[in-house]
This record gives sequence, structure tokens and C-alpha cells, in this order.
Amino acid sequence: MKVVVSIGGSVLAPDLDADRVADYADAIQSLDAQGHTLGTVVGGGPTARDYIGSARDLGANEIELDQLGIAVTRLNGRLLIAALDDRAAPTPAESYDEGREAIRRGDIPVLGGIVAAQTTDAVAAAFAEYVGADLLVYATSVPGVYDADPNEDDDATRFDELGADELVDVIADIEMDAGSSAPVDLLAAKIIQRSGIRTIVLDGTDPERVVRAVEDGEYEGSEILPEA
Ligand code: UTP
Repeated sequence: MKVVVSIGGSVLAPDLDADRVADYADAIQSLDAQGHTLGTVVGGGPTARDYIGSARDLGANEIELDQLGIAVTRLNGRLLIAALDDRAAPTPAESYDEGREAIRRGDIPVLGGIVAAQTTDAVAAAFAEYVGADLLVYATSVPGVYDADPNEDDDATRFDELGADELVDVIADIEMDAGSSAPVDLLAAKIIQRSGIRTIVLDGTDPERVVRAVEDGEYEGSEILPEA
């Protein structure tokens, strides 16, 4: 199976703990050893937020902040590459083409951010679409798609399954509330909707959950089903 795994920065490197990155690399390598074709996308997490916060105080504009965020995602990408050793492409792919070429060579590409004004959620969806992935997995700190922001609303209920159209509606509603945390951003939801990629959003704090989701189809989270 061809699988793109999006690893949120807050699950890969919340505190730059080497063991955690090594555990993620082990999970990716075990899927690779099972014969799956893999692409990975890495987020910026708290380090990106810290840099963006400081630069905003210094008067940087939004595009400059995005560029800083992209740089941090690529730093996190280099951590994962270090842990994946010679199975990974040697540097974070800076374009979808570079990532696809790495897959064709037989390497595992690691992507960070690509262009300003989006997040790595959208990168993962676009890359999955570009390489014709069978499955897209978001390993995030939000364990699924909820009908409201679970950090704001105690009654928020998780969807076990939802259609891509429904995902777009739910994310649009959540994103209307300033400062709310959606499990994937709206651009990612729209790309998932148009491409019909089967997508799973799960709690990525334990990388083994990603392996179980891909290998056995077992996970706690939400599955986004392509529209009929
Ligand atoms: P993330 O993808 O990590 O943001 O990108 P996030 O989803 O808010 O955070 P986590 O990792 O899931 O917790 C960090 C920042 O990098 C810039 C944006 O500013 C984003 O907020 N970025 C990232 C881009 O501008 N373009 C990209 O393609 C990716």
C-alpha cells in the first residue's frame, strides 16, 4: 500500500526528545519493512510557534512568519531523517516533485512546509494526491475529527467515520472560531474532498498506533471516507 503519514510537530518533537523521534522512525521503518511505500510530512510543533511568536513581536509580517514556520518544519524533518538513516532521502523535500522523485528512487521522502499561507496538513493531502496514495494518516495531538473544538466544548463528540463533504463543513465551522484547533486545516479538507483519498486522523502520541492503523486497520480516531 502507498501511504503518506503526516506527523504533527507536537507529536514528533514536543520537546526535542531524541527517543521519541527514534520511536517514530522505528514505526516508519517497520511499515517500510512490511513492503509499504511511504511518504512522510513533518510539522513544526511548539518550536515553530515559539519562533513565530518572537518574530511577530519583532514586527515580522505573516508571510515572513510562514517562512520561519516552514524552516522549522524542515529542521524537524532533518531530525526524522537522522533517525531514519539511509532509508530516508538525505534532505527534506522542498517541493512535491522532489518528494515524488525520492519515492521513485526507493527512498522515503520527508517533507516539511512547501509554500506560505498553509500548514503541513495541506502539504500531506496535496502530496498524497500527487503520488496517488492509497491512504493518508494524520498522526496528531487531536485524536480524531470532532463535531466541535474538543478543547473548547466538553460536549464535542468524535466521528468514527465521516464523508469528505462533511469533513469540509465541520472544519469550516471550527475554523470560524478564532484560536480554535482543528485536527486538519480547511485547505487539507478540501484537497481530501476532491481527491477522494481514504484518510485517518488519529492520536499520534504513540507511533505504534500509526503502524496498527496501516497494518491491521485498528485505530482510535476518525476515518474520512471518499464520497460515493
Ligand atoms: P505546521 O504544519 O506545523 O502548523 O506548520 P500547525 O498544523 O499549526 O502545527 P502542528 O505541528 O500540527 O502542531 C507550522 C507553520 O509553518 C508555516 C505556517 O505558518 C504554519 O503555521 N507553514 C507550514 C507554511 O507557511 N507553509 C507550509 O506549507 C507549512
